[in-house]
Amino acid sequence: MRPPSGAGITGVMFTTIIEPFRIHSIEPLRLTTPQERAAAIRQAGYNVFGLHSADVLIDLLTDSGTGAMSRDQWAAIQHGDESYAGSPSWYVFLDAVRTLFPFEHVIPTHQGRAAEKILFTALGGPGKVVPNNTHFDTTRANVEFSGAEAVDLVIPEGHDPAAEHPFKGNMDVEALERLISSRGAENVPLVMVTITNNSGGGQPVSLENLRAVRAVCDRHGVPLYLDACRFAENAWFIREREPGQGGRDVADIVRELAGLADGMTISAKKDPLANIGGWLATNDDALAERCRALLVLTEGFPTYGGLAGRDLEAIAQGLAEAVAHDYLHYRTRSTAYLGEGIRQAGIPIVSPVGGHAVYIDARAFLPHVPPLRYPGQALAVALYESGGVRGCEIGTVMFGRHPDGTETAAAMDLVRLAIPRRTYTQSHIDYVIEVCAEVAARAEQLTGYRIVEEPAQLRHFTARFEPLAS
Ligand SMILES: Cc1ncc(COP(=O)(O)O)c(C=O)c1O
Repeated sequence: MRPPSGAGITGVMFTTIIEPFRIHSIEPLRLTTPQERAAAIRQAGYNVFGLHSADVLIDLLTDSGTGAMSRDQWAAIQHGDESYAGSPSWYVFLDAVRTLFPFEHVIPTHQGRAAEKILFTALGGPGKVVPNNTHFDTTRANVEFSGAEAVDLVIPEGHDPAAEHPFKGNMDVEALERLISSRGAENVPLVMVTITNNSGGGQPVSLENLRAVRAVCDRHGVPLYLDACRFAENAWFIREREPGQGGRDVADIVRELAGLADGMTISAKKDPLANIGGWLATNDDALAERCRALLVLTEGFPTYGGLAGRDLEAIAQGLAEAVAHDYLHYRTRSTAYLGEGIRQAGIPIVSPVGGHAVYIDARAFLPHVPPLRYPGQALAVALYESGGVRGCEIGTVMFGRHPDGTETAAAMDLVRLAIPRRTYTQSHIDYVIEVCAEVAARAEQLTGYRIVEEPAQLRHFTARFEPLAS
């Protein structure tokens, strides 16, 4: 039984999820045999990041840069002006960004982590501490690479995959107050809030919580920055779930979120519906000057940064489409549909389902695989071997290794099935649910893994694994 798709959007109480678009050009998918998949994953060192994507049937590794662009985005690309300085495409981009995020300075980068690298090079450093609801992996890596400490302060419900809370991405405001008081505001160069909280299950942050974080920042004179990759999905959840926000235009909610912050970083590969891009924005003139100097060193001239004029145009058009209500309704509803199907197959997931992905609780699903034997890795490999579905471990492999070389269990061991925007149809998603059910039927036979090779940073991308016998 499918719950109603929402009379508010279609005007009628039909239950089918309607994709608010039709297919314009197609990409073929290649079917593989179980033997081919077994060989491919072995060759990839049992790391799904090492697979050839042509060997993957349904690729839910990430929602980053994998979405389908619209007809109007492809048309906008034709308007791309590749002038080195002051291109019209830059002004189209700047205008679109400022319509939603009215910050003084906008610094374009080739993707989100480049914005993070610049920001934390300018503000981080030894002795500094950066609080976040939950740092995304590249954010944490960039904070730590600068010599600063990255501290996650999500509310306790955010650590409990089963806890039902409408805004599980919220920051623990009291813990933030305690951290700033104990470490000294002079050692906290900024507070960051990630919307939605990707590593914590794609969970939104409420307006009320962001206002409370702002109040703490104001009391201590510390700037507040958003990691705003999924700003539109977060704003949609605010509209759907937060008292008093029901009738609001999502674009208006986004402007209010931005107005509570002093700046932002973003990857345009997520909610802005582009295949590449990002930016750093700030209201701090002096900081902007330092960041632009860094930008010129590694990205490019300030009116294109790390991007071509055509990319700037695609992002500008994508921003307008990202806040459309029919799109956001379909987006969040179809993600929830996958979650409901997986739950019905008897697999525990993080609830409520977030905006861009379903997170399977691999630790609860495979209780016989201890965290340091990587239950998330075991499940991600099993989903690929079973049906060519590629998800991503977000757990002890991703977060377990510390700068001092020690390894501990991460707070949760999840497998993220991230849904590329406007890319897969409902029958693709029904197939994924079937694959999950097949793996669930033989869950107790799955074994853990050990790492045989790993790099010093961001090990989950390139580590090689070996299956354990039991
Ligand atoms: C919350 C969050 N912040 C930052 C990033 C980094 O963005 P990029 O992959 O464009 O470098 C990501 C990417 O997945 C993300 O989800």
